Amino acid sequence: MKPRVLSGIQPTGSLHIGNYLGALKHWVQMQPDYESIFLIVDLHAITLYQEPAELLKKIEQTAAIFLAAGIDPKQSPVVVQSLVPGHAELTWLLTCTTPVGWLERMTQYKDKSSKQESIGDGLLQYPVLMAADILIYQANVVPVGDDQSQHLELTRDIAQRFNALYGDTFVMPATKLPTVGARIMGLDDPAKKMSKSTEGPGHAISLLDPPSVIRKKIMRATTDSLPGVDYDDMGAGVANLLTIHQAFSGWTDDQMKAHFAGMRYGDLKKQVAEAVVAGLEPLQARYAEITADPAYLRSVLRESAQRVMPIAEATVRLVKQRMGVYVG
Ligand code: TRP
Repeated sequence: MKPRVLSGIQPTGSLHIGNYLGALKHWVQMQPDYESIFLIVDLHAITLYQEPAELLKKIEQTAAIFLAAGIDPKQSPVVVQSLVPGHAELTWLLTCTTPVGWLERMTQYKDKSSKQESIGDGLLQYPVLMAADILIYQANVVPVGDDQSQHLELTRDIAQRFNALYGDTFVMPATKLPTVGARIMGLDDPAKKMSKSTEGPGHAISLLDPPSVIRKKIMRATTDSLPGVDYDDMGAGVANLLTIHQAFSGWTDDQMKAHFAGMRYGDLKKQVAEAVVAGLEPLQARYAEITADPAYLRSVLRESAQRVMPIAEATVRLVKQRMGVYVG
């Protein structure tokens, strides 16, 4: 039996090349070796206010990008979290065994709540919902960015505590962090990881940006005061552009160095832009095909949910039985 891998992404903002190179691309490559489930976590998204019509649009857009990037829904279900009621149900059951203190210690909670005047209870429970996403499918491996590793540790703590109280119930999920080098930084500020939520037109390259926009954004990317690429004294902005090129071109370190050493930044940027444009072209072409047929996309989402529902229902039933809750 193949190990089960599960990951999720919030349908907010626009998926960008950092999401693609750091996550999606690896998920696609993992498909043959794992039994994969990919979640679009709309219930996580609403822990902060989302404009309803926009959220709905983003859910389908995110799903279409997954498919366009090479997720094969016949192998790997693409599941909208809210279509499987067990996620919310298991969350409640797990909140009852999770100390509030554990949740209040989460750095992402502290960060997000400090920016809000009034916060919903859902923001505090967010990591319990994430634990439920993972534990409901008894996932073995969870690939996430390092910003989520604290939530993964908490998931293991929640599982362990439940198992200790009620007997062995949950599989312990392992964290899988992205490989080094695949971390893409903001074009406007190479000290910050490229983010979906950071506003600012020059920050991220969206996977759906047309070529003219991609070129414009890269030409404006922050570099440094040197005239050209110096491998012995390289600023973070230049290093980021080279990382982006290499991720799309697939060139070796030696090829990169031989080609780019000494190159003026204007020329470097032109070549990086062309590598990104060419690298995204197949994805964008497939995206256009997929979105031309909304009925197909909806059927994929419906069928994906149907496929995973029995696993989710079995876990919820087991958890209820363990806790002595009535299952009829
Ligand atoms: N919280 C994750 C993020 O914002 C998304 C997420 C929700 C997730 N449920 C998950 C990731 C389960 C992995 C597994 O990035």
